[in-house]
Amino acid sequence: MNPPKKPRVVVTREVFDDAIDYLSTHCEVHANQVDAPYSPEALAAALANAQGLMCALTDKVDAALLASCPQLQAVANIAVGYNNIDVPACTARGIQVTNTPGVLDDSTADLAFALMLATARRITEVESYIRQGAWTGWKLKQWLGVDVHHATLGIVGMGRIGQAIAKRAQGFDMRVIYHNRKRVAPDIEQRLSAAFVSLGDLLAQSDFIILQVPYAPETHHLIGAAELAMMKPGAILVNSTRGGVVDDKALVEALKKGVIRGAGLDVYEGEPKLDAGFLSLKNVVLVPHIGSSTEATRRAMAMTAARNLVAALSGERPPNLVNGEVLALR
Ligand code: GLV
Repeated sequence: MNPPKKPRVVVTREVFDDAIDYLSTHCEVHANQVDAPYSPEALAAALANAQGLMCALTDKVDAALLASCPQLQAVANIAVGYNNIDVPACTARGIQVTNTPGVLDDSTADLAFALMLATARRITEVESYIRQGAWTGWKLKQWLGVDVHHATLGIVGMGRIGQAIAKRAQGFDMRVIYHNRKRVAPDIEQRLSAAFVSLGDLLAQSDFIILQVPYAPETHHLIGAAELAMMKPGAILVNSTRGGVVDDKALVEALKKGVIRGAGLDVYEGEPKLDAGFLSLKNVVLVPHIGSSTEATRRAMAMTAARNLVAALSGERPPNLVNGEVLALR
């Protein structure tokens, strides 16, 4: 008797070999040989007879794509955010969707902190000054920044990553306030010395604001011109979550006019394109969506996605199933 046919899976971007090796023991793997996103047409063609998809936030999994891959059973995103996937459309077709929560919390919190520190202490601005050979000597009033320690940090979005940021803030003796759709449990608030406030109070009281809410229709332009105007003129905004949570055009204007002091950004509306206005501003620190980008974390994310995909295709409940309701539809 022939052994049962392995499910066919498509991996859309370059990943670490251990994830491919693991997938290959259970599946027939079709891995994109070029580390660039497939066009929608190429992705549809690759998926035409596939049961599994391991994809990245650069891949759009929408109803049109799903209509062209009738055999698809599972989509494993290599990210905690999954706004690139139309989850209700997947559920309607009985397709399981998974993400990679947990393994990237600390690395992403580290990056949010790095952006906050770099903006407060003008690290990229002074680094380019020194590289240009412009430094002629020490001066008492040169390159003055602002203190992170003992300042008030407002965290918008108190999920796992928000909490990891609050934990770091304790080491800097910061006062931590937060806003979240739902207030977190009292023991978590107590452990993190974090006080729940309204978004308006958070905007008005914080010296630093870090955004860590997922992107969804409800969080689209959560921070726009009106919210920026509510912040302290000395405030620094960090967006380490998703483009679209901030109205980037409004942010460029606010940074130009000194409505707030500065911003540290990892994510942008329409990335990898970004508002050209950011490029000529000195009071913004820009990095290219590297929140979770350490070797250990990206490896763990790829392996988590691979395990989720294999579990889903083997009839087991994947550890990080986003649309649990899909199982009831079987
Ligand atoms: C990265 O941005 C992620 O959502 O994991």
